[in-house]
Amino acid sequence: MDKILIDGGVPLRGEVAVSGAKNAALPALAATLLAEGGHAIHNVPDLADVRTMGRLLSHMGCEVGRGDGRALEVRVPASLSPEAPYEMVKTMRASVLVLGPLVARWGRARVSLPGGCAIGARPIDQHLKALTALGAEIELEHGYVEARAPRGRLSGTSFVFDLPTVTGTENVMMAAALAEGRTVLGNCAREPEVVDLADALRGMGARIEGDGTPEIRIEGVTGLTPLRHRVVPDRIEAGTLLVAGALPGGDVVVRDCVPAHLEALVEKLRAVGASVEPAPGGLRVVGDGRPRATDFRTAPFPGFPTDMQAQMMVLLAIASGSSVVTETVFENRFMHVLELTRLGADIAVDGKTALVKGVASLSGAPVMASDLRASAALVLAGLVARDTTEVLRVYHLDRGYERLEEKLAPLGARIRRVKA
Ligand code: UD1
Repeated sequence: MDKILIDGGVPLRGEVAVSGAKNAALPALAATLLAEGGHAIHNVPDLADVRTMGRLLSHMGCEVGRGDGRALEVRVPASLSPEAPYEMVKTMRASVLVLGPLVARWGRARVSLPGGCAIGARPIDQHLKALTALGAEIELEHGYVEARAPRGRLSGTSFVFDLPTVTGTENVMMAAALAEGRTVLGNCAREPEVVDLADALRGMGARIEGDGTPEIRIEGVTGLTPLRHRVVPDRIEAGTLLVAGALPGGDVVVRDCVPAHLEALVEKLRAVGASVEPAPGGLRVVGDGRPRATDFRTAPFPGFPTDMQAQMMVLLAIASGSSVVTETVFENRFMHVLELTRLGADIAVDGKTALVKGVASLSGAPVMASDLRASAALVLAGLVARDTTEVLRVYHLDRGYERLEEKLAPLGARIRRVKA
């Protein structure tokens, strides 16, 4: 198992490019199940989660391979086995994204329930309710969701989500694309990855409008053509690199990002005193002196992303003054706090809020990654801490970042990966 060693205290300088978005690549891969034939998805990052989704598609009978450069090619056969087994779903919740396409295109699906995960219970009740509204017959048996489309096809419906769910919106949008008639979905997630999937589906011949707003309208079609799509840049990787550049003394250009996807974060980076300005192909961040304290709360897009909460907290941990961070999207998403306190941070958690009292400096120590974004926060903390920080359980980081250390080292970070 790998670990990452960081000798902190070197301000970052230079340019770094952002990879394609994990959270857009995963639904695009699931969307291939909507049409037989050869699909090509470009700008797909080479990550553990993407490989898991690839294995899942292969398990069903698809051929999955890397084409030239960064394209991922998927060949969907004329018949497949529509099952997502527990062994795969348990390592990646987003596997549940195959449920909608399977039942819509293949008439049935058997998908393991994801179970709990480190950042809270994360049910899929909204996915199931909406698919039921589309006419799917759903049973839960032996830990699996068994879904069928009676008569082989789903039917258009009106459905309002109880709360905006990203993968829920994506799952149901994919299913409705092949349903008979019109579907109107209310209280949808507005995340850029939902819009990217809608673009991908439109490229396959789907008739979808309203994505990026709370109401999505879908006119079902009888068949779709294979996917040719380029996934959007990863706004969470971009955000993580912006926070790295906002650490004291930093001056970094983050290329290949979409500033419109990063507005809530940029506003908070400015609130802590960093300067963030447009630069050719992206954003330039300059982290002047010690950050200032600021409060923030996570919320669905366009609010401050929960996936950036842990990283932003690193800036507040070394800020002058106290900040309050409120996590409204997930329960249990403060697991990085204990590890940050091992580096000298002064943070107290009370339910959904964390009170961060800024300290003058952090000092390196061995720390344990607990989930994907928490591990990115520990790497950022290591960049600013005195002496050496050792981040263990790097497999969490590798689920969602394409060798983060190789992006940070050219900026001057003294960071390396070693076998633990
Ligand atoms: C996606 C992202 C993840 C991000 C999250 C929130 C992917 C692959 N993952 O996860 O990185 O942290 O959005 O931005 O895109 N909920 C229910 N019932 C449901 C579905 C969700 O109660 O059926 C709740 C969840 O427990 C959570 C909230 O809704 O409290 C939002 O979760 P959701 O948007 O579904 O997150 P994911 O799509 O799993």
